[in-house]
Amino acid sequence: MRILVTGAAGFIGSAYVRHVLNEHPGDKVLGLDLLTYAGNLANLEEQRDDPRFRFVRGDIADAELIGELAPDLDAIVNFAAESHVDRSLLDPGAFARANVIGVMTLLEAARTHGLRMLQVSTDEVYGHVPAGQAAAEDYPLQPRSPYSAAKAGGELMCQAYGTSYGTDVVITRGANTIGPRQYPEKLIPLFVTNALLDLPLPVYGDGRQIRNWLHADDHAAAIDLVLREGASGQAYNVAADNERENLEVVHDILQRVGKPLSLIRHVEDRPGHDRRYGIDTTRIRTELGWSPRRDWHQTLYDTIDWYVANPGWWQAIRHRDPRFQEFYDRQYSHRLAGVGTATN
Ligand code: DAU
Repeated sequence: MRILVTGAAGFIGSAYVRHVLNEHPGDKVLGLDLLTYAGNLANLEEQRDDPRFRFVRGDIADAELIGELAPDLDAIVNFAAESHVDRSLLDPGAFARANVIGVMTLLEAARTHGLRMLQVSTDEVYGHVPAGQAAAEDYPLQPRSPYSAAKAGGELMCQAYGTSYGTDVVITRGANTIGPRQYPEKLIPLFVTNALLDLPLPVYGDGRQIRNWLHADDHAAAIDLVLREGASGQAYNVAADNERENLEVVHDILQRVGKPLSLIRHVEDRPGHDRRYGIDTTRIRTELGWSPRRDWHQTLYDTIDWYVANPGWWQAIRHRDPRFQEFYDRQYSHRLAGVGTATN
């Protein structure tokens, strides 16, 4: 199979490139990435000299470029996205452009050239799911942030191309993903690296929000299975059984890196903060036979230990890329100013 992997230099995209090259020796991967703040060529270093891999820098919303690449492909797997909820609250337009217009540009190429397209989406399209419930794939889409609304828009565009033009599309809706090489703006890499730097850990609100954590390599394997065996037009939820309250995760992080609970700060909450995501993964497990290979502690410790062992990777971002500091100051300075220690 010849696969265009967009967002290939990102966190889950690069894990997917590794997965395909390891698991399918006959496949060819063309990696595309705009290399915005979160795209990082260091994530693809092992693949650089692999003759089955080629990298192009570019934008998924660039129709001319995508049109040039498409004739030599069988499939597109779209990881390229604006993905951070807090950033979407600051700049919604960037999210609509990448996550809706960008997706439509790829769909146009898939339609014109008869390619299969897999859209990597998110469990956030269901919005907050009350305790005790689990959203199956036919649960209403009720996104609540500009990020998740834009992801839902991209998905709806996929479904419209399937219905209107018969384009071969499949969708995955993944849970909160962690692992090596995640940009340190998301909860776990931010808090691990803050803890290593003896900086405060800004917990939004009461910290009792619930997320369901998934290892990037398990997520990549699920996406690959859906690409090869998923039914056209179908969406597949992807999650492990790792529902945890944020505060519990934060305590686990501090214990693993040997830092005190006094680093925890409860700060002003994220506006519109989704309390819980909860999805039903029966479809992918029973129809395609997927299950995660790692349990909760393997997932968390593999992630934490990678940041401990690879300070050069994250220090290049945190200490030498001004775009990190600019966002960090904008997001956290006012939240952390004058907030005292809390050890609960
Ligand atoms: O559920 C899948 C989604 O998970 C993906 O689609 C998104 O791209 C990804 O960003 C993630 O969304 P979340 O908003 O759940 O992830 P985040 O790491 O930003 O936050 C996880 C939880 O931690 C959430 O309840 C907010 C909280 N949090 C986050 C940050 C960054 C804090 O308490 N403090 C923080 O500084």
